[in-house]
Amino acid sequence: MIIARSVSELRKALNAKEGNIGFVPTMGALHIGHRTLIDAARKENETVVVSIFVNPTQFLPGEDLSKYPRKEEADFKICELSGVDVLFYPAVAGMYGEDEVRMCAPDSRGFILEGASRPGHFDGVLTVVMKLFNMVQPTRAYFGKKDAQQLALITQMVENFFMKVEIVPMETVREKDGLALSSRNVYLNGPQRIEALKLSTALKEGTKMVMQGNLNSIEIQSAMTEILRPLDVEYVAIVNRRFQSIAQVVIGDTIVLVAARVGTTRLIDNVWM
Ligand code: PAF
Repeated sequence: MIIARSVSELRKALNAKEGNIGFVPTMGALHIGHRTLIDAARKENETVVVSIFVNPTQFLPGEDLSKYPRKEEADFKICELSGVDVLFYPAVAGMYGEDEVRMCAPDSRGFILEGASRPGHFDGVLTVVMKLFNMVQPTRAYFGKKDAQQLALITQMVENFFMKVEIVPMETVREKDGLALSSRNVYLNGPQRIEALKLSTALKEGTKMVMQGNLNSIEIQSAMTEILRPLDVEYVAIVNRRFQSIAQVVIGDTIVLVAARVGTTRLIDNVWM
């Protein structure tokens, strides 16, 4: 595995490779969810590139940028064992200069749900992903469905800017008890880890109601909110794949999303129906 710490090292490493490039952008603290993305990239491409970069522009002031888990040694090992060809590990100064051109999230879809709770977050995500795509020039890029709105906006950016990369959505990976894997789960202590299960339990209840024939968004949202109590719930939302609110679930075109705080840790989860 080649470790590239600058764009020129990355380009040199990639110039020596032939065939399709599968790319997995990450912020490190890799878990089985990331492994699933890397494994898919490994199966479908000749070359696999993983980036690890804790992107400062997608954190709001007061968020967890400084304490975001950094596990360089373990991450390098995971990448090596997963058959990654090139690990891109840039420094902030190699990614950002002064007074730069930036990407802007779209006015409506970019400023609801996660975009409303974290204004500016998606501008930072889109900016760094655009930079990374231009550096790596991947054939395919792999993203988890757990960050559903991020996935939708990156897909839209690729369409809007006529980019050639194929975005490959991957299923959310969960612990046996249902907790969606997230690098932020390390912030949870024992009791909070149990409280955090309310998110997946609420989503299971929503899914059960739909399977029993209740497609009414308000009724599903209120049953889910009940289960989430007493967590600090930011939203329970039912949208179509274009992230428009819908009054009725439409099977094949619905995402049910939750965001809630467990202690000071903000967690998100969703199911695609
Ligand atoms: O999902 C993430 O880990 C990040 O938002 C991403 C896509 C790597 C951009 O920093």
